[in-house]
Amino acid sequence: MQSQQAIHGNFADKDILSLSQFISSDIELLFTKVPEMKKLRNNKEASRLLSGTIASLLFFEPSSRTISSFSAALKLLDCKTIEMQNVQVSSIAKGESFEDTIRVFEAYSDLIIIRHKDAGSAQQASDIAEIPIINAGDGGASHPTQTLLDLYTIQEKFGRLTGLKVVACGDVLHSRTIHSLIEGLSLFSNNEVYLLSPDELKFTKSEFEKFSKLGAKILEITSPDEIPKDTHVFYWNRIQKERFENNKEAEKYSGQFPLTSQFLEQYGNNDLIILDPLPRVDEIASEIDQNPRALYLKNQLKNGLYIRMALAGLVLGRL
Ligand code: NCD
Repeated sequence: MQSQQAIHGNFADKDILSLSQFISSDIELLFTKVPEMKKLRNNKEASRLLSGTIASLLFFEPSSRTISSFSAALKLLDCKTIEMQNVQVSSIAKGESFEDTIRVFEAYSDLIIIRHKDAGSAQQASDIAEIPIINAGDGGASHPTQTLLDLYTIQEKFGRLTGLKVVACGDVLHSRTIHSLIEGLSLFSNNEVYLLSPDELKFTKSEFEKFSKLGAKILEITSPDEIPKDTHVFYWNRIQKERFENNKEAEKYSGQFPLTSQFLEQYGNNDLIILDPLPRVDEIASEIDQNPRALYLKNQLKNGLYIRMALAGLVLGRL
């Protein structure tokens, strides 16, 4: 399939590789489908929207939420799923190439959802297969469906995606969820993203320039004192230890800006929301979980299901 096609109002048969395919109205179009999906789920209605279709979920990297929310989303719409999560028991362990694996699953399915440790792997899959590919995370590069659900959660709270101040904290260098979030916020006007990270995990100069050009104003900060008082979103993500040479190297950086009640009191305000794509490791203290502003174990998770239902429906041309 032709790669990185613009969506421009039509999702049918297209890959979802990164947010660069979107304009703001594409995001809005997707969001218009969410209430219907939410209703289906909440009323436990049996939908046949995707009857007769099969999706392959190829997860070459660990996942809990993304694979299970895609799996649940597809099943709720009557799409059957083939799920390959443990590569040790697949033919890859026998030496099968990536290309052959993609071709095999293409033969059995109408849609491939892929997660892989290598940046560019979803693009590579899309170059091989004719059927649509959805990127469920390619290395440190991007994670578009996570951003779509993050943006939906932000819009649900503030009623808009413009004029927002977002603090993204953690492993800015490696976090694909932060990278995609910047891309997503850049599709809307007047957004500011404050990047709070240990010095060593800041963007490289060229990445900073690349992301700055997208649209959102990017500001690198090294102390929570620089967080604006009128911030709308605290977006915390763990140190991406699998992207380091070894665990010891990663551990040097973990727990540098833990979000505790005291941190929230000192640097937050009463209206902001707290998001984390999860898994949470030590970046947010469990005492925050019950805070009504903490949405990571609530709306953010549920919205992942609805957004993935709507996206699959659109890409398979049934919505
Ligand atoms: C994220 C990812 O895989 O990048 N997880 C997820 O899909 N919700 C975040 C992370 O692993 O830190």
